[in-house]
Amino acid sequence: MTQGVFRVRLDVPTRAADTALAAALATGVQGVEIQDQETGGPPPGRVYIILWHADSADTPNHRRDVAAALRKGAGADVVVSLETADDGWTALLAADLEPALLGSHFAALPPGATPPPDRRPLWVESGGGFGSGMHPTTALCVGLLEPFINAETRVLDVGCGSGVLALAALLMGAQSAVGVDIDSVALAAAARNAAHNGVGDRARWVEKMPPQTADLVLANLYPGPLTQLASDLSRRIEHGGVLIISGFREPQRKALEGVYRDHGLHVVDAHSRAGWHGLILSSRPEAART
Ligand SMILES: C[S@@+](CC[C@H](N)C(=O)[O-])C[C@H]1O[C@@H](n2cnc3c(N)ncnc32)[C@H](O)[C@@H]1O
Repeated sequence: MTQGVFRVRLDVPTRAADTALAAALATGVQGVEIQDQETGGPPPGRVYIILWHADSADTPNHRRDVAAALRKGAGADVVVSLETADDGWTALLAADLEPALLGSHFAALPPGATPPPDRRPLWVESGGGFGSGMHPTTALCVGLLEPFINAETRVLDVGCGSGVLALAALLMGAQSAVGVDIDSVALAAAARNAAHNGVGDRARWVEKMPPQTADLVLANLYPGPLTQLASDLSRRIEHGGVLIISGFREPQRKALEGVYRDHGLHVVDAHSRAGWHGLILSSRPEAART
């Protein structure tokens, strides 16, 4: 039998998102997702932090305690709402998945769902918070990669999760993509998602970074791996190509810029979304877009 869960939604001013997230993590969450306006969240200036907690034996008290801890830790301007689900959290997420708008063309949604009228579907089977396309960094990266895709573009997506970034690139017309992840479950999901999107023949999903270079290297990761992999990632960029990194917030940004500068890469462009940053890096400051 699957473990019961309950869902807590925090409606938070964007500037307080870090504090609220820290308070939330201290309550022992099973899953976290952050939504801004384009990924099904509130209007600009606020974000939703969605948390999944396992039910304890003492469910009503546990829920009350979690809600109280969040209200106390996350500050006065945070709206906490509790929702219950009797099924497992994956099932809950799959059923609950709103289309996430990715870049200017796509909506990520589960196979069989109906995309918004002006959007192409990017089918994502995974109901998990990350890899469903619902995270602001995923949407941010899809928007950033769009100008770099043409029919010759070879893509390397490091930390691919369920493959959303590589799949978006392929659906935009990229020649091929290799997705790399240390999580074999994520790789299996990525392969299924490639098949759902009809691009399986142009994609490979592997656990170890291949030696070849790529025209577009994507790394929507965490600050730790982004630092540790800086040398490997820098060496995978084809001459004239770009690296897009994301998955960090303002306090880590300067340090990461320095790390990549030490590997000969300059910031060509920088964007942020719901407090998360994304950088386009190249060895040539004037890196050409298609
Ligand atoms: C934040 S998720 C991003 C998923 C996907 N890129 C997206 O935008 O939706 C980061 C992924 O990086 C993977 N990861 C973490 N460290 C890694 C490493 N050193 N090498 C490859 N993948 C890694 C995790 O398993 C996870 O699937």
